[in-house]
Amino acid sequence: MEQLKQEVESCTKCPLHKTRTKAVFGNGNLDAEIMIIAEGPGYYEDQSGTVFQGKSGELLDKVLAACCFSRDEHVYISNIVKCRPPNNRAPIEIEKEVCLTYLYQQIERVDPKIIILLGATALKGLIDPNAKITQVRGQWIKWKDRMVMPTYHPSALLRNPTLKRPVWEDFKAVVAKYRELVNAAHYSAHC
Ligand code: URA
Repeated sequence: MEQLKQEVESCTKCPLHKTRTKAVFGNGNLDAEIMIIAEGPGYYEDQSGTVFQGKSGELLDKVLAACCFSRDEHVYISNIVKCRPPNNRAPIEIEKEVCLTYLYQQIERVDPKIIILLGATALKGLIDPNAKITQVRGQWIKWKDRMVMPTYHPSALLRNPTLKRPVWEDFKAVVAKYRELVNAAHYSAHC
């Protein structure tokens, strides 16, 4: 994985390398049974080289903590694209296409039983370009022998707090699946 990380950090396969400060490869436990995939780095991630900093990172940490999951132990987190799109625009086709080859290798290496997709870009990038997050969130998708749960991106929750309830339901379903597939004794006071 270290070799792949170095490849990503020096990647020039799409125009995003010209405007990035740091590529953001991914963080967490390489042996985690849960992989979280989101869209791409924002301002703070680009500056630090680390996934989910700033307000959406804080919110994600709160949801994970409520599930008794931690970034260091239970999850590995990465994005569809590893370099920040200028002004936080959504990544375009060519950017997603070249960067997905890195993500596929990360998934193979981490080999998670459960994948959580945060937001439309992650859903469309990994599963189906025509899928709609509003229609499929909360429903398990079987993909390459892994169980995939699409839900809303934390930044959508920051804009629209009414989405917090469905996201919490989706994470409760992840805890139940984690107990079923990984550790029946996983403790969480909230679910
Ligand atoms: N938003 C994302 O999609 N990914 C990050 O790493 C941070 C914010």
